[in-house]
Amino acid sequence: MVDVIEWPDLPALQQPAWPDAAALDAAVAELSVLPPLVFAGECDLLTERLAAAARGEAFVLMGGDCAETFAANTADSIRARLQTVLQMAVVLTYGASTPVVKIGRMAGQYFKPRSKATETRDGVTLTSYYGDGVNALPFTEADRVPDPWRLVRAYHASGATLNLVRAFTQGGYADLRQVHAWNQDFVRDSRVGERYERMAGEIERALSFMAACGADPEEFRRVEFYAGHEGLVLPYERALTRIDSRTGLPYSVSGHFLWIGERTRQAGSAHVDLAARIRNPIGVKVGPTATSDEILTLLEELDPECTPGRITLITRMGAGKIREALPPIVQKVNASSHSVVWVCDPMHGNTRETSHGVKTRLFDDVLDEVRGFFEVHRAIGTHPGGIHIELTGDDVTECVGGLSGLTEDGLHERYETACDPRLNRVQALELAFLVADMLLER
Ligand code: PEP
Ligand code: CO
Repeated sequence: MVDVIEWPDLPALQQPAWPDAAALDAAVAELSVLPPLVFAGECDLLTERLAAAARGEAFVLMGGDCAETFAANTADSIRARLQTVLQMAVVLTYGASTPVVKIGRMAGQYFKPRSKATETRDGVTLTSYYGDGVNALPFTEADRVPDPWRLVRAYHASGATLNLVRAFTQGGYADLRQVHAWNQDFVRDSRVGERYERMAGEIERALSFMAACGADPEEFRRVEFYAGHEGLVLPYERALTRIDSRTGLPYSVSGHFLWIGERTRQAGSAHVDLAARIRNPIGVKVGPTATSDEILTLLEELDPECTPGRITLITRMGAGKIREALPPIVQKVNASSHSVVWVCDPMHGNTRETSHGVKTRLFDDVLDEVRGFFEVHRAIGTHPGGIHIELTGDDVTECVGGLSGLTEDGLHERYETACDPRLNRVQALELAFLVADMLLER
């Protein structure tokens, strides 16, 4: 299924300046014939799951790195991220008795939009870091030059990640009887780790009781897990857009779920055109300056048939703005025929710098934005449908606060992100318990 799609020449922001056009053509030609990473049927099933979330019958959990890196594409790192999402999901499922749709910011999150195209240090100006799929983070000329063969490497890295994720989620590791096994190392000894242990004990007793009654459902053995990333770098995404042989419709085969970022969601842009063509479920980031008219125009372009679950609006307003900025948008969309999933990204509106110039986020801001999100939706009568979190499975020190009491002074200890600060596994789990409580407050 390599039918050629004609791509229109539309304005496209955030595209790296590739210095070698012939190399870009060669890399794209190679990508265009590589096999799909995901399948149309899986994407359709995710749309169905998201439609349930749009109706208020499920909750969406999206989580993973701000920027995946080739160096962290190891079994340990992937397993730790997956564990974090599985632990959060079980807390939400058990704590709030609600099905959780799990989407990793994984297996494709190699491309980053930047506020500036170049970066200057000590009088030297180089291309900004656009993610491992484009260039490398160290501040040298050789590392920062956009290299199209990195697109091909990002594809292979994503394939390897997805292979491991599929093995873990289908091959027994995600079996609910493993709830204790997901709670290991540094997490187990934390206060939330202890709370998790108690919950895991209750789940285990419930499972033993069911087994004694003769019930051992297949649903407990496997987990449905989807991969999502920002659809940003057009040569990559276009080369991985294919016509599905069964339906004759175009799908992105680079990930199940693609979102358009806050910086590239202009109506009539190449990014919106790409998203409008593919049948995958689509996310749109919505920041504090978005107007309700602008969002409605976008919905008309992206979802002309008003398909429930097709669009997820991922709002990222900032804790101080969400209570004013979100209601007009929710009201307008709610009065339209579009049935969207409302998801809260409490990370990207809450980035700040410490007095030492370190990029961080406060756990309290993250929590406050999620609270504001619940308050707004509860007041209007719409469903707070999910959260979108930057997290890692490791014991990093990038965000301040939470029960572990991480302070600004401790940030330097294990500050490892290639881009934005992420919640560590203890902070992510703590957030999951708090969100489960919010889901129960009605
Ligand atoms: C992101 O999700 O990493 C991101 C860049 O978000 P936004 O487009 O909302 O700024
Ligand atoms: Co980010």
